[in-house]
Amino acid sequence: MDSQALKLEDWVRPELRDLKPYASARALHGDSSAVVALNANENPWPSDPAMPLNRYPDPQPQALVDALAEHFGVDPASLLITRGSDEGIDLLMRLLIRPGTDSIMVQPPCFGMYALYAQIQGAKVIEVPLVKGRGQWTTDWPATQKADACRLYFFCTPNNPTGHEIPAVELLAFAKQVENHGLVVVDEAYAEFSEAASLIPMIAHQPNLVVLRTLSKAFGLAGARLGCVMADPDVVDWLKRIIAPYPLPTPSVDAALRALEADALGEQRAQIERILANKQSFVEKLPQWGFVKTIWPGQANFVLVEVDDADALMTHCLQSGVVLRNQSHQSKLNNCIRITIGSNDEMNRLVECFNQFQPTQA
Ligand SMILES: Cc1ncc(COP(=O)(O)O)c(C=O)c1O
Repeated sequence: MDSQALKLEDWVRPELRDLKPYASARALHGDSSAVVALNANENPWPSDPAMPLNRYPDPQPQALVDALAEHFGVDPASLLITRGSDEGIDLLMRLLIRPGTDSIMVQPPCFGMYALYAQIQGAKVIEVPLVKGRGQWTTDWPATQKADACRLYFFCTPNNPTGHEIPAVELLAFAKQVENHGLVVVDEAYAEFSEAASLIPMIAHQPNLVVLRTLSKAFGLAGARLGCVMADPDVVDWLKRIIAPYPLPTPSVDAALRALEADALGEQRAQIERILANKQSFVEKLPQWGFVKTIWPGQANFVLVEVDDADALMTHCLQSGVVLRNQSHQSKLNNCIRITIGSNDEMNRLVECFNQFQPTQA
């Protein structure tokens, strides 16, 4: 596939083109333990010697960059570690969106942070709603034509909250089609739960393609706030210029390094299998409840369900101490609830709760 070189220099916000990035103490002189570090106004003593955190962390710890790059199969120069993939979304907006001038494309119902960060940055948000079928959701490709001059096009596969996958060939064809306009951002937050091929290997062939991954889902590290942007090295270099000086807390980096070791990855696989088994058994039970109208099992660690009265079911579950996610605020999702698949005990609690629900009681 022949693709044009990225026109990133032309797309970056003009006021950022000559920006001199902040040169942090650690970025200038590296690992503080190798020198007498009197350059960062730190305290020489930790507050807790058992967990020394008195030194600023490395902005992009090479060991973690290398481990993630190896895990995802990319060149380390194509990977930027961020505070969750949320930060990756925000950085892309801040790099490319001129407030009041540039646009982004989203496909509701989808993850709300694309539009939120866009609004914070003053982007115009062009919505191309998904097509809702009986058992499946699809991209309205003809309608994406009306959004042909965006700087950022967001896709999520498997999509949150519908759980459906977008075929890689369709995403690639679209990226090719808009390569003179902007970046196609494919959010693969839930990819570990699906069997579909990742778009990551294609970033080397289609320079306007960006893939987001997070350690918050399958990796079980939501509390560590880590994710990564994988893209053409030019994109990564530009993002490095605007990212916070010390985005990655030391305990989070250590936790991620442990999670990337072979035995931890084996345990992660076993957890995914358990989640998928719990999901299958829950999806099989769903039709037994009369208040369930439509089920979209999807390919992620959640299920989207349309019910008779989402508010009543949410209230009932909450009274029993079970919290679900009402999606009724999203277009085309009136009375829809997204249910994360939990442990056996958690799913048993949920089943009990659904068994006790009297639709007319609320
Ligand atoms: C599709 C999608 N992308 C990104 C995120 C944010 O992930 P992180 O915790 O890495 O910021 C989420 C979180 O729910 C998500 O559902």
